[in-house]
Amino acid sequence: MERPYDEQTLVHDVIIYGHPTLRRRADDVSVFDDDLRQLVREMFATMEDYDGIGLAAPQIDKSIRLLVIGVPGEQEENKEDEKFYLAVLNPVITSSSGSWDFEEGCLSIPDIRETVTRPESITMEYDTPMGEHRKLEATGILARVLQHEIDHLNGVLFIDHLSPIRRGLLNGRLKRLERDSQE
Ligand code: CO
Repeated sequence: MERPYDEQTLVHDVIIYGHPTLRRRADDVSVFDDDLRQLVREMFATMEDYDGIGLAAPQIDKSIRLLVIGVPGEQEENKEDEKFYLAVLNPVITSSSGSWDFEEGCLSIPDIRETVTRPESITMEYDTPMGEHRKLEATGILARVLQHEIDHLNGVLFIDHLSPIRRGLLNGRLKRLERDSQE
């Protein structure tokens, strides 16, 4: 899939754990205009600049229900650059199934990776940047990234899914991140 932005596109700063926007419930998007579509391009450019596979708008301090993903394509094994790009507005997970352990990280929680259990497959309804309503069935990595990013729109972070013991082991590092982000 072609890159959905160009070299001139603005790259935003990603905010880090401790910033209050990461804990806020983001607002629905109701206006689908050129400003929104420009922001979507900037989200893609920011995600790629940070080498991420997904980015939610709250991570660039915009508290709206928008996320972008860019995951490796599954069919075209020969083309390593081939990615599946998707911009998602107002997502709602309408069904999910299975259970899968997979290691996650987050651009807003640098240098921490932990195994998280989530449903393996989901069905999601969402709006496109043109305001069209769509339905998507996803499984594996795609379903995983979508669930992680949708959590961000609800102020939820992947560390919230850990057992109290494993979360406790991260406390020192999280406190440090929190301190750094407030300086
Ligand atoms: Co994240």
